[in-house]
Amino acid sequence: MTTIHDLAAWKREGRRFAMLTAYDFPTAQILDRAGIPVILVGDSVANNVLGYDTTLPVTMEEMLHHARAVSRGAKEALLVGDMPFMSYQAGRDEAIRNAGRFLKEAGMHAVKLEGPHLDLAEAIVAAGIPVMGHLGLTPQSVHAMGGYRVQAREDEAAQRLLAEAQALEKSGIFSLVLEGIPSDVARRVTETVTVPTIGIGAGPSCDGQVLVFHDLVGLREGRYPKFVKTYADLRGEVTRAVRAFADEVEAGTFPDEPHSYS
Ligand code: KIV
Repeated sequence: MTTIHDLAAWKREGRRFAMLTAYDFPTAQILDRAGIPVILVGDSVANNVLGYDTTLPVTMEEMLHHARAVSRGAKEALLVGDMPFMSYQAGRDEAIRNAGRFLKEAGMHAVKLEGPHLDLAEAIVAAGIPVMGHLGLTPQSVHAMGGYRVQAREDEAAQRLLAEAQALEKSGIFSLVLEGIPSDVARRVTETVTVPTIGIGAGPSCDGQVLVFHDLVGLREGRYPKFVKTYADLRGEVTRAVRAFADEVEAGTFPDEPHSYS
């Protein structure tokens, strides 16, 4: 089973690794059997499964529901539960309590939280719960950022992000997601901190890379961001399959004899 100590060792050895999102049992099984070492039950379940425009509406109860399904499907991967908007920002006690629920009630091994919340990260780590940080384009701050924009393009913002990454490292996080930042900023952070960085839209220099599963397999409708590479066209394939089924039903060719009981 992958642990946070494996990730630390991989960083020291220069070994790169993949992380993917999963929100349900069959996807978790597929990723786990395929040897994906880190699975994130992302709050992006809001956009990809629940049909919301942003990640803001998703609740703790919804996150736990999906996290439980994932933990039933994955046996080898390190499982990270994404703390939803307003499950941690209001204060230490609530942050610790909600982080603890991911481990106690949903079989997660760690939690992720967005932004430079040093005191909250430190408090959760002190409670014995491993924390993954997340800096750069943090979708829970979409309104504060004025949209989904690449962050830390200016020198001052890049310096600030580097300082936040170092401060989060001091708070005890075991890894750090870097989202939507220029490649050279991600490289500088990766070279500076000792915890593994995991990039998404942050160029090739991070220690690990994460993609949203639904993007990777082409399940989502509409345009994909520049940083996404689709490795399959499941939306097209599933559409073809359901249409073929409907056509056969309408033509009276399904069910046929091999698919019927005598
Ligand atoms: O929720 C999510 O999918 C994420 C990843 C993009 C890192 O936070």
